[in-house]
Amino acid sequence: MPRPGITVRGTGARSRVAAAGRVPPRWRGEVERVLITEEQIAQRVRQLARRLERDFKGRDLIIVPLLTGTVMFMADLLRHLALPLRIDFMGVSSYGAGTESGELVFTKELRMELRSRDVLLVDDILDTGRTLKRVSEKLRSLKPRSLKTCVLLDKKARRVEPIEADYVGFEIPDAFVVGYGLDFAERYRNLPFVGVLKPEMYRAS
Ligand code: IMP
Ligand code: MG
Repeated sequence: MPRPGITVRGTGARSRVAAAGRVPPRWRGEVERVLITEEQIAQRVRQLARRLERDFKGRDLIIVPLLTGTVMFMADLLRHLALPLRIDFMGVSSYGAGTESGELVFTKELRMELRSRDVLLVDDILDTGRTLKRVSEKLRSLKPRSLKTCVLLDKKARRVEPIEADYVGFEIPDAFVVGYGLDFAERYRNLPFVGVLKPEMYRAS
């Protein structure tokens, strides 16, 4: 079976990058394949940081990352962002069963005033688009000067809401992925790469 490649979306032309990388022995029982390696993530995060630095230079930036999937992405992105900025995590949980997203529940509200600020909303993955749409609407009602969105992963094939992110790390095929912050039933967030779970792992639970 051919391995689906991943599309790296840069500022201009698209390039195909082979999904290289073998699953480390520790995870071989649960993870079927590595979709995006640590090295690929690190390189892309630095590119995103350079773009954000250019675009938010001289702005009053507040980054609003959604818990919990963005923790690794944020930790890596932030150390490459040489910009004055503030961070206010927002807690969002979709109480869906298994790999489907369900009802959205806010588990941590914002502490900062967004009015007249330049806000960058960050999520781990853009899937159906329901989360990003709901949260964008909520943030827009707080009257920021500008609102942009950034996601590490974009699963375009699954979109239900007509929404795109302004900054995208990687476009990925329609597979349930874990690692680098992303979970299945709150597990696998600590994998340093993005991988595809073996189907029997979610059938088991
Ligand atoms: P959406 O609302 O359908 O766009 O889904 C967004 C949320 O669903 C993300 O914040 C993730 O928490 C979760 N999600 C969607 N696809 C995946 C996946 O492949 N792996 C892990 N979590 C996912
Ligand atoms: Mg999540």
